[in-house]
Amino acid sequence: MSLPSDKGPSDKGDTAGLSAADYDAFCRFLRERTGLSFTEAKRYFVDRRVSERMAAVGVEHVRQYLNLLRFQASGEELQLLVNRMTVNETYFFRELYQLDCLVNAALDEVVRGRPPGSRVRIWSAGCATGEEPYSIAITLLERWSRVDEFEIELYASDIDSQVLARAREGIYEQRSLQAMPRDLVAKYFTRLDDQSWQIMEELRDSIDFSLVNIADPQQMENFRGMDVIFCRNLLIYFDDLGRREAASMFYDALSPNGFICLGHSESMSRMSSLFVPRRFPDAILYQKPQS
Ligand SMILES: C[S@@+](CC[C@H](N)C(=O)[O-])C[C@H]1O[C@@H](n2cnc3c(N)ncnc32)[C@H](O)[C@@H]1O
Repeated sequence: MSLPSDKGPSDKGDTAGLSAADYDAFCRFLRERTGLSFTEAKRYFVDRRVSERMAAVGVEHVRQYLNLLRFQASGEELQLLVNRMTVNETYFFRELYQLDCLVNAALDEVVRGRPPGSRVRIWSAGCATGEEPYSIAITLLERWSRVDEFEIELYASDIDSQVLARAREGIYEQRSLQAMPRDLVAKYFTRLDDQSWQIMEELRDSIDFSLVNIADPQQMENFRGMDVIFCRNLLIYFDDLGRREAASMFYDALSPNGFICLGHSESMSRMSSLFVPRRFPDAILYQKPQS
């Protein structure tokens, strides 16, 4: 149970701010559990959050805290720490060109040859506070002419339990909504007060939200037969190996010919050769080949 550190428990540097060895041990642990990869440049960010959590649980030494994270049966402290380590920045209609591509081209390909009434499955992996899956739902309702012909299943997941709770609640402030046309805000949201709007209940109920760590193969096995996966602005926080592993799990989760959408600064071609890049007029998506 001891950690690779050259310092004893009473050495300066053993309590957060983390010593170099403890910082390494922490980053290795987080990388293994979550896929999140923290370089030396993120030291201040990590240090601060670990110190806060150690103070909150009243643990004095980093190695004690790491043991708590590793061996606590409920996993509660690990979840609380993970909630503090994620970057949850998002907003409605972010990288709209991919939503354009979805309704202008990709979904028509997905349903080609499928009888009316068949299921179409779309998954927002790393959905943060929910703006992405709700943007997908609104775009389909507003702009996909065949939306009523198919049984559309929308899944949304995140590793951070706190943002998921907010996604389920669906209450947003102006900053989240600023890229969304006013008429759509009026149509799909109820104004709660000067600052906040809540998305309508039918939309909240139409999305299946769940706590999923995309770096955990066991959890990923629950996702199969997806037609489109959005995994945007998440893999930037992984290292090369983590991205490759995630790409392989998304490959397994997709149906043949299914598509994956990444954020604008992420390129599947640099992560994995499993997918074929498809250049549509609005965007480049990555497709799982037929066989
Ligand atoms: C920057 S947000 C992106 C939100 C949205 N996809 C977008 O593009 O606007 C990244 C999200 O990925 C989540 N995340 C990070 N690591 C994850 C993991 N291993 N499994 C699932 N979600 C993860 C974070 O909690 C965060 O909410």
